[in-house]
Amino acid sequence: MTFDHDVVIVGGGGAGLRAAIAIAETSPSLRVAIVSKVYPMRSHTVSAEGGAAGVIASTDTYDEHAYDTISGGDWLTDQDAVELFVAEAPRELLQLEHWGCPWSRKPDGHIAVRAFGGMKKMRTWFAADKTGFHLLHTLFQTALKYGAIARYDEWFVSKLLVDEGRVQGVVAIEMATGRIEVITAKAVILTTGGGGKVFPFTTNANIKTGDGMALAYRAGAPLKDMEFVQYHPTGLPFTGILITEAARAEGGHLINKDGYRYLQDYDLGKPTPGPVLRNMELGPRDRLSQAFMHEVAKGRTTDSPYGPVVHLDLRHLGAKLIDAKLPFVRELCQRYQNIDPVTELIPVRPVVHYMMGGVHTDIDGATPLAGLYAAGEVACVSINGANRLGSNSLPELLVFGAKAGMAAAEYASGGSAATAPASAIQAQGEDERTRLEQLLTKSTGTERIADLRDAMHVVMEQGAGIYRSADTLATATDAIAEVRARYPHVRIDDHSRTFNTELISALELGHLLEIAETIVVSASRREESRGAHQRTDFPNRDDDRYLAHSLAERGPDGGCQVSYLPVKITRWPPGERVYGR
Ligand code: FUM
Repeated sequence: MTFDHDVVIVGGGGAGLRAAIAIAETSPSLRVAIVSKVYPMRSHTVSAEGGAAGVIASTDTYDEHAYDTISGGDWLTDQDAVELFVAEAPRELLQLEHWGCPWSRKPDGHIAVRAFGGMKKMRTWFAADKTGFHLLHTLFQTALKYGAIARYDEWFVSKLLVDEGRVQGVVAIEMATGRIEVITAKAVILTTGGGGKVFPFTTNANIKTGDGMALAYRAGAPLKDMEFVQYHPTGLPFTGILITEAARAEGGHLINKDGYRYLQDYDLGKPTPGPVLRNMELGPRDRLSQAFMHEVAKGRTTDSPYGPVVHLDLRHLGAKLIDAKLPFVRELCQRYQNIDPVTELIPVRPVVHYMMGGVHTDIDGATPLAGLYAAGEVACVSINGANRLGSNSLPELLVFGAKAGMAAAEYASGGSAATAPASAIQAQGEDERTRLEQLLTKSTGTERIADLRDAMHVVMEQGAGIYRSADTLATATDAIAEVRARYPHVRIDDHSRTFNTELISALELGHLLEIAETIVVSASRREESRGAHQRTDFPNRDDDRYLAHSLAERGPDGGCQVSYLPVKITRWPPGERVYGR
């Protein structure tokens, strides 16, 4: 038995649902399927908290949003993509309003916006601090209206099927039964999110294992700017749970062990009375995370069982404001840290939050591999450059989810797309079935999944964290190669077919290791410091050599090869990043 669709979307989060809706609306005769390893409402989009940026105030302009995004990204953003993004973002947010998203409002009924890091105007729309939940719910309930959208919930995609230079479907495991099926399609859109689980401390859910990036890379598509990994400055120290930047936008302070607002020492401005905007706590994430490392070096942080921490102080905001604007922050602190931010300090540390890099796409979400598209965190368009500004990722997944959906629909309707499942595709499917069956049934194997994952975590945090150097990256590259060499000996004790989470974890680990290699190799090659990529041995930005995107591709020997692609500059030549002034 085979399954056949016009467009298959891998990933059921915000970008995937938005792409599916765009196809259903613009090409209602196309048969669309969403294949997702979790039920869509459990996708990681649900955990986005602080908000979604889009120009709405009469005192704000697209150019200002574009400039904040470009300078925030340390000029590695493609400016044509940013210009399109800032113009489309408000339209998408308003569309969500019409689909039922309960945006927070001002007392007069207008949409409320809040400040956000690196944004010099207030333009972040929000739904209290549960924006991702409401956004995802709105998209999901809208997608349910369209009969043309089929869903494969809790199916895990293990391979992209490529024949005659075109992507023609996927192989997927139905997790409830263990059956392995070929799902053919004229076009495939990857919307699987990022891979923060490469690192030990992360805001990312366990499901964020770089699946789409690894699938694309193995199929021959390049991964762009993989060295740029964002640390969010305020994660809970053990769990990595996100304490939203909105807490600082509403007036929260970051203090060191002496109770001092240390960010004033890092060229991010000085304390001002009233709510913070444009400075200190609302500096960009790369700068705040780097400031934390300097505080550690100066011995001004507090030791915790999970490493050094600073504290986020919300006490002066009072229970009324916290319950109205930051109810989720209070709930998370109470449940997972056993503290109440109304009366206690929140311990925080930088934790991996977002990958600026991803599958290389053009402005329409098309990859260089015919029939393959990508949108959301899995993709690199690129609007985020070397450092994403908070609240740009939700509008990004809406704008480029819709674009990728429409481009894939057009491709699937055209003559160059595959029209029938070819025997070569079925043969590839058989090979993949054999590989998965062997992994599931083999009773030998000496390596534990958890040991390999732990080893990867240590290597990545030590070698490719907030600060890197040629030495740490060389050590990391060798160590990741060693872990990858151990991976084929992984042992699976559970041979059952019903919800075999051990099998899925093993496959996810394979994906993580694949992208870990691209991160360390791309980071080794970039001999400069830019945004989230800080090299202690090359502390300055070097536009002469590196005003360019890295492209990581799998070489003929299976190793990672890096080349460069110029950044697209339209109207904003490279300049200095200035905050707090
Ligand atoms: O802090 C936050 O709420 C995160 C937002 C984002 O990453 O866009």
